[in-house]
Amino acid sequence: MNIPVIAIIGAGNMGSSLIGGLINTGHPCGKIWATDPDNEKLEHLHQSFQINTTPENSKAAQAADILVLAVKPQLFAQVAKDLAPQIQAHKPLVISIAAGIRESSIQHWLGGNTAIVRAMPNTPALIGCGATGLYANPFVTNEQHSLAESILRSVGVVVWLPDEKLMDTVTALSGSGPAYFFLMMETLQQAAEQLGLSADIARLLTLQTALGAARMAIESGKPLDELRRNVTSPGGTTEKAVSVLENSNIRTLFKNALQAAKLRSEELAELIDK
Ligand SMILES: NC(=O)c1ccc[n+]([C@@H]2O[C@H](COP(=O)([O-])OP(=O)(O)OC[C@H]3O[C@@H](n4cnc5c(N)ncnc54)[C@H](OP(=O)(O)O)[C@@H]3O)[C@@H](O)[C@H]2O)c1
Repeated sequence: MNIPVIAIIGAGNMGSSLIGGLINTGHPCGKIWATDPDNEKLEHLHQSFQINTTPENSKAAQAADILVLAVKPQLFAQVAKDLAPQIQAHKPLVISIAAGIRESSIQHWLGGNTAIVRAMPNTPALIGCGATGLYANPFVTNEQHSLAESILRSVGVVVWLPDEKLMDTVTALSGSGPAYFFLMMETLQQAAEQLGLSADIARLLTLQTALGAARMAIESGKPLDELRRNVTSPGGTTEKAVSVLENSNIRTLFKNALQAAKLRSEELAELIDK
């Protein structure tokens, strides 16, 4: 395929981040369209990136090989139904980044036989450091697979899921996950303040420790339990702290938290399906 034309439907937080990611990874600006009801937002995007913009979704859809639907979940059904005629006429790849909307619902609104990739990115995608789960339906070709992957990879790492049901677990892990780490960092900072550090120093040490630990895990590729053991000398300070966490059932807590989030993700998808 020649360089594909990509239309981002809904140039909000996530849509704009994807546009930034695409430009940063060398996708030609003339091959990107953005739509949004807000003309000021479109003008800003046009000025910043020289991409094509229009408030009319159907106009962008007519030009596109790939449509990225990046509107809020509650608007998704109407936007999809309105685009169905163009999609049925041109058969582009449709990528949905809407949380909790199943492929079967999207397929239904689009009129069937459509190549659809569902993507579940997370908030750090807004700074190019996202983690996205992807699922492709059987209409997606190998080439479209690669294209979808490169679009989402422009804002972070991606993983493919063999079964759409796993999207609920991805939502529970990486979708909601930034909040778990914010909570952990918040509680660590608070505890350090209670033990005498100033708020500024406690915050800086907490954040840099989280970043350093994540980078060490990524760059070493070592199993997490091995990395933990490497910084846990027998009889030392870390061992004492870790045993307090283990005795307080931290593993059960996180398992329960993820199970609750997964269940809620399933329930929300059911509600949208109805
Ligand atoms: N943000 C995240 O971290 C995150 C993570 C995972 C998944 N997602 C998914 O990404 C999608 C977008 O989220 P977001 O945070 O980027 O939301 P957002 O900032 O509200 O972006 C949505 C954009 O769509 C525009 N819009 C509304 N109606 C439209 C229409 N009929 N046609 C075209 N555009 C329209 C909105 O304009 P107005 O503001 O003028 O209404 C807004 O600019 C959601 O489905 C969400 O589930 C987001």
